[in-house]
Amino acid sequence: MAQEDLFKKLIAHCKEYGYVFPSSEIYDGLSAVYDYGQYGVELKNNIKKYWWDSMVLLHENIVGIDSAIFMHPTIWKASGHVDAFNDPLIDNKDSKKRYRADVLIEEQLAKIEGKIDKEVEKASARFGEMFDEAQFRATNGRVLEYQIKWDELHNRFAEALNNADLVELKQIIEDQEIVCPISGTRNWTEVRQFNLMFSTEMGSTADGSLKVYLRPETAQGIFVNYMNVQKSGRMKIPFGIAQIGKAFRNEIVARQFIFRMREFEQMELQFFVRPGTELEWFEKWKQLRIKWHQALGFGNENYKFHLHEKLAHYANAAVDIEFKFPFGFKEVEGIHSRTDYDLSQHQKFSGKKIQYFDPELNESYVPYVVETSIGVDRMFLQIMAASYHEDTVEDNNGQKETRVVLRLPAPLAPVKLAVMPLIKKDGLPEKAREIIEELKFDFNCQYDEKDSIGKRYRRQDAIGTPFCVTVDHDTATDNTVTIRYRDSMLQERVQISQLRELISAQVGFRTLFKQLKD
Ligand code: GAP
Repeated sequence: MAQEDLFKKLIAHCKEYGYVFPSSEIYDGLSAVYDYGQYGVELKNNIKKYWWDSMVLLHENIVGIDSAIFMHPTIWKASGHVDAFNDPLIDNKDSKKRYRADVLIEEQLAKIEGKIDKEVEKASARFGEMFDEAQFRATNGRVLEYQIKWDELHNRFAEALNNADLVELKQIIEDQEIVCPISGTRNWTEVRQFNLMFSTEMGSTADGSLKVYLRPETAQGIFVNYMNVQKSGRMKIPFGIAQIGKAFRNEIVARQFIFRMREFEQMELQFFVRPGTELEWFEKWKQLRIKWHQALGFGNENYKFHLHEKLAHYANAAVDIEFKFPFGFKEVEGIHSRTDYDLSQHQKFSGKKIQYFDPELNESYVPYVVETSIGVDRMFLQIMAASYHEDTVEDNNGQKETRVVLRLPAPLAPVKLAVMPLIKKDGLPEKAREIIEELKFDFNCQYDEKDSIGKRYRRQDAIGTPFCVTVDHDTATDNTVTIRYRDSMLQERVQISQLRELISAQVGFRTLFKQLKD
């Protein structure tokens, strides 16, 4: 199936099965804002638990906080967001559509990459097992030609970004003959900077209101609480503060479903270290974070690191973890070595001392920071995209049919087990409910008695339930049930008393956490 079709199906599936709904749908929606449904919220909570526990449970030197969304407006002046949290935007005069100039150029780079990949694919099909991809890429004339074009464009683009040269960005768009996807024309405006922060007013106008911002990242809530946590928790460097919370950005190009939203959630860690050790810690966190992703079992080949060409104003090293979405490799998580920029700025703007006395060095300093920052919603999309499968299976009459199954990692699945009476009489529903009454303290269970067993299995497959338990006439006499596994579709007979242990072993986070050890 073409990746574009797969993505459309995934979006439809999310809505049909209660994962994600467009916001304010009965009023025709609100662009780039989404609501999570009954299963979506469970998956989201499980993702957050996986992240939170992997930070604060597994590391004795990491603690969590929950800071407010509204903060003193000077914080955003100090952090640089008021002056520099901008995207370069450009309008097409014919379609009146607005684009991010950097995204238009990135898409042009991706097009060239696509051409190279096509050449590689063609040659691979031609030469079969004999094909040496590395040699082909290094020697094939057409590939080399594309590669030179890519390198030239890439270098020019990186330089323009680093110099914040808006005229050059526009020139690149013109030289590359990039057209508006809607009008097909090259009738562009100049490139302008656009601040992404939402603002509102706090207090009544009579009292004199204060312009406040909806936070565009959760990180600043951690920085301004650094002294509070360090002192009250008697934390010793190196230590980390973790936070999960909403962030808001007035994104110009809000596309690709929940990939780029205007209201989203972040899971951020600020790890405070001794100056001079930050790049070591940066490497360490890079490895820890990629392991966290890979432990979910979606295939290591679907992740890559992308080193930043242009460093943010606060960073001395930065890398993204990218995942292969249906629309290509894209950022899921950013890891930044943020130096002492933020704490120093807050020290300067607040006039309060923000330092650490290091007893080993017998000196005080402003700590350096390594940050890991991941979007809950992007992680959600990653998991849904990797889990959505359409299998061809045979029904009872030997007819082929399509089975839509969400192969969610069991610890993240919203519903852990469905309990189903084979028929709606002879005491089977009561027995099924008895099992749920016992297991509901440990797992999110669902009772399902409607339709044939086959249809019920399909329904549970579509929401990603890892186990279905069927109660039949033998259950009353021998206390056994049939357990059916979502991925293999295998069924086995087990004692009711075994269910709790059997399911626990699969749905707990323990196996995932064990893979995260250093
Ligand atoms: N504190 C650093 C920071 O905010 P970022 O790279 O701008 O860095 C971190 O954002 C992560 O937040 C991204 O990797 C992405 O997963 C998520 N994110 C950022 N903007 C988003 C948006 N508009 N919609 C959904 N997720 C977003």
